[in-house]
Amino acid sequence: MAEGTDFGGAVPQHIGIIMDGNGRWAKKRGLPRTAGHTAGAQNFRTITRYAASIGMKYLTLYAFSTENWSRPAAEVSALMRLFRQYMEEALTDFMDENIRVRFIGDTSAFAPKLRELIAEVEESSAPKTGMVLNLAMNYGGRAELTRAMRQIGEKIRRGEMRPEDVTEDVISAHLYTAGQPDPDLVIRPSGEERISNFLLWQSAYTEFVYFDILWPDFKSSDLDEAIRIFNHRNRRYGGV
Ligand code: IPE
Ligand code: IPE
Ligand code: MG
Repeated sequence: MAEGTDFGGAVPQHIGIIMDGNGRWAKKRGLPRTAGHTAGAQNFRTITRYAASIGMKYLTLYAFSTENWSRPAAEVSALMRLFRQYMEEALTDFMDENIRVRFIGDTSAFAPKLRELIAEVEESSAPKTGMVLNLAMNYGGRAELTRAMRQIGEKIRRGEMRPEDVTEDVISAHLYTAGQPDPDLVIRPSGEERISNFLLWQSAYTEFVYFDILWPDFKSSDLDEAIRIFNHRNRRYGGV
């Protein structure tokens, strides 16, 4: 962190980032889309380290959505290869960083080798006490809510719960992010201004910052800027 970085206030507890724009970054350079994913994956490391260094408590990064399977098979397999490579590196990489890595999304859809790596990364980083990094992989807000509804329905069917016991807190407790604070801020680079199925329930009162920057070009200083913008917002939560 640049010494004395001015955030215009405190660093928010929980920030989400929709890592978008890899394909366009590559296209601009006359490269295949997968080159954009490689550059984006490198940036994922830089930004994660930086976020931990400024004292963020939770960082949630959207890496692959439930809808991203609809991309050409070659792009999907290139992404899977990258994920595997990054999981392997993460095992050594984040070791000395005090970062706890968690996966949110349906990781059962991934190939056995990737699933093994995911389990290993989660397990080996579990004792870490610093920032929690949530990696959203095969994640969709609707799929997450559907899964929660099924789990709750199952508990009702077994007689462990009554319909009137289903509160907002109960629903939150059945999401992948159970026990974590809702994101204060979600940042979307790339120029798109939409949520694309990210943290639908959790973002009820989240502040959004959109940047016309492609993810591989997104710098630590852009994160600082997003935090400053956030700190100038007036969060009212429906009040006055
Ligand atoms: C984000 O970049 C990476 C994933 C969704 C996996 P994109 O691949 O969506 O890049 P653009 O939006 O096409 O530029
Ligand atoms: C959102 O980006 C998902 C991730 C960044 C992982 P997309 O590129 O898939 O979203 P759309 O299609 O522009 O909404
Ligand atoms: Mg995109």
